[in-house]
Order: sequence, then structure tokens, then C-alpha cells
Amino acid sequence: MNNVYTLGIESSCDETAAGVYSSQNGLIAHQLHSQASLHRIYGGVVPELASRDHIKRVLPLVSAALAQAKIVPKQLSGVAYTAGPGLAGALLVGAGFAKSLAFALNIPALGINHLEGHLLAPLLEANKPSFPFLCLLVSGGHSMLLHAKALGQYKLLGESLDDAAGEAFDKVAQLLGLGYPGGVVLAKTATMGDKQRFTLPRPLLAKDSLDFSFSGLKTAVRHTFLKIKNPSQQDIADICASFEHTITDVLVQKTQRALLQTGLKKLVVTGGVGANTVLRLKLASLVQKNVAELFYPRLEFCTDNGAMIALAGHLRLSCGQFDSTYDIMTKPRWGLDKLEQAPLFHQH
Ligand code: KG4
Ligand code: ZN
Repeated sequence: MNNVYTLGIESSCDETAAGVYSSQNGLIAHQLHSQASLHRIYGGVVPELASRDHIKRVLPLVSAALAQAKIVPKQLSGVAYTAGPGLAGALLVGAGFAKSLAFALNIPALGINHLEGHLLAPLLEANKPSFPFLCLLVSGGHSMLLHAKALGQYKLLGESLDDAAGEAFDKVAQLLGLGYPGGVVLAKTATMGDKQRFTLPRPLLAKDSLDFSFSGLKTAVRHTFLKIKNPSQQDIADICASFEHTITDVLVQKTQRALLQTGLKKLVVTGGVGANTVLRLKLASLVQKNVAELFYPRLEFCTDNGAMIALAGHLRLSCGQFDSTYDIMTKPRWGLDKLEQAPLFHQH
């Protein structure tokens, strides 16, 4: 069989990224530019600046990915891009570029759901899960538990009713003056702290619910912090450790509940918060207790990347799916449980 190459382009938030997936050799290239330093002084992503930067980066990144893959554009069989969810202007950059390239090369383009990209990212690894599996998807914008039955069949079991887990990490980090993006630096600060010093609320909601709610926890951290006069480095580290301990406990307890309710024996953890070491340690002992298997993407593919979009594109294009027109369309609010009805897809 011919070797088929799929280009994947990611531009939904503050990372511009491109990857190339080969049907014979798997992932053969991935390139990424993070805008973290651009947004840092604002304490969060500024959508207009994000779009402008994506425009500058996308062509050089795609060229670099093709060079790394040692192929020329003419060898591509399809172009996948993140169509949503994400920032509207940022998504349009990737979609516009992908559609133009596909049109020029006369090959199919395909809009990929960013969350599906995260969910499928562990399939880039040598030790990959097969369907069905339970997925804990914890990113900056989403916290979800999903029953992944097959490609495109994802049943939402529970999600965050307010802040996403990554958003809670970022907001607490900002409150403590740790900067942006907050997850990594909060986790690092927490290693020097005492996780037992502050007792924070564990919002588990109703007994059988798999939904999350983190805004109460975030408010409790705020009250705790404001009560301390002249907080020292140690106080801040203790708050970080207590917060991290609490939020990871909630994520793990809900995951345990989902494993029991579904009877699934494979657990996939993806999204930026999936890179958190404390969460990983707790999940490792959870799967041991439940005699389940645990799968992660490699650390750099937990956060946003083009490799996962190239892979999702490869899997869907090889099923005969592609966008029915070269019109530039995005879906800034695209739920993962709505994939099968997605009007972007045309199926043979
Ligand atoms: O998946 P991602 O790159 O972006 C979205 O699609 O949202 O996730 C980014 C999120 C940010 O909120 C960041 O603070 C968090 O993941 N994050 C972490 C860690 N690394 C990234 N949170 C906790 N611990 C980490 N080590
Ligand atoms: Zn993401």
C-alpha cells in the first residue's frame, strides 16, 4: 500500500503547531511555537494578539514540519486542521491556511475537533490503548470524563459546571502572583509546600454525579490567601500544595467513580493538566486498585500540539471523511459528544 501523508495544523488558542503523520511510519514530524511569552504580561491569552501571531507563524511552522518529514507539499494526501472549539479568530487562521493549501494541491481538507485530538493523542505512543476506554480530559478549557466507544463515538459522562481544572490552576497561580501560564509553576512551587496545612473544600457534588465544580475551591483558596498577613514564600508554597492535593483528589475520585460505573478497564488521561506529576502518581495507584491500565500521551503531547491533529486527520481521512467544501468554516463551540452530527464532515 502507498505511503499516505497527512498534515495537521493546530491554532485554537496560544500555540501554533504542525505535524505530519505517515500511514506507514506514524508521526514523522511535529513543530510548535508557544505564545506564552507574548501573553504573559496580560496574565492570560489576548485573542487578537493570538490570531496575529498565528498568521506570522503558521507558514514557517508548516514548512519546517514538511522539511523534518523530508517531503514536499505535493506528497501530501490531506490537510487536517483544528476547526473548534477555541478562539474564533485563532481558529480561522489555521482553517484558512489549511483550506487554501488543500485547494491549491487539490487534496481533501478536514476540520478536526480539538478535544478529539487530545483524546486520541495517546494513540501516538507505542503502548497505545484500543477502544473502548474511559478518558479523563483535563485541559485549560475543559474537564471531562468520557466513555470513548470508537472513533467519533464519545459519550460525555461528566464535565465541569464552571471552571475547568487547568483554568483553576491558572487562576490560583495568578492570585498568588506566580504568573502565566500557571499550571507548571504552581506545581513546581507546590513541591516545596505542606499539602496538609490548609483544608480546602472537595466539591464532589451529588453521590453518583460525574460532573466537576472548581469555582468554590478557587474561592476558598482566595479567602485562605487573603487571611494571611504578609504571606511568605513558604505560605504560598503551602497554599499551592494544599490546592494541588485537593483538586487532584477530586479528579481521581470522580475517575474512580466513572471506572466503577462503566466497568471500563482502560483509562486514558490527556490535556495539559494530565502532565501534573501529583495527579499521575494518584492515578497510578487508582488503576492498580482497580486492576485497570493507564495510558498517557508523552508529556509534550499532553498540551496543545499539531501531532494529535495530524493523527486524528489521518484516522478520519482514511475512513473517507473530508470537508464537503473548501469554504473556510470553524466551530468555536464544538462539543465532543456532537461529532457524529457534525455538518463539516462528508462521508462516502
Ligand atoms: O491542553 P492545554 O495545552 O490547552 C487547552 O486546550 O486548554 O492545557 C493547558 C492547561 C493550562 O491551564 C495549564 O496551566 C495546565 O494545562 N497545565 C498544568 C500543568 N501543565 C499544564 N496544570 C497542572 N500541572 C501541570 N504540570
Ligand atoms: Zn488543548
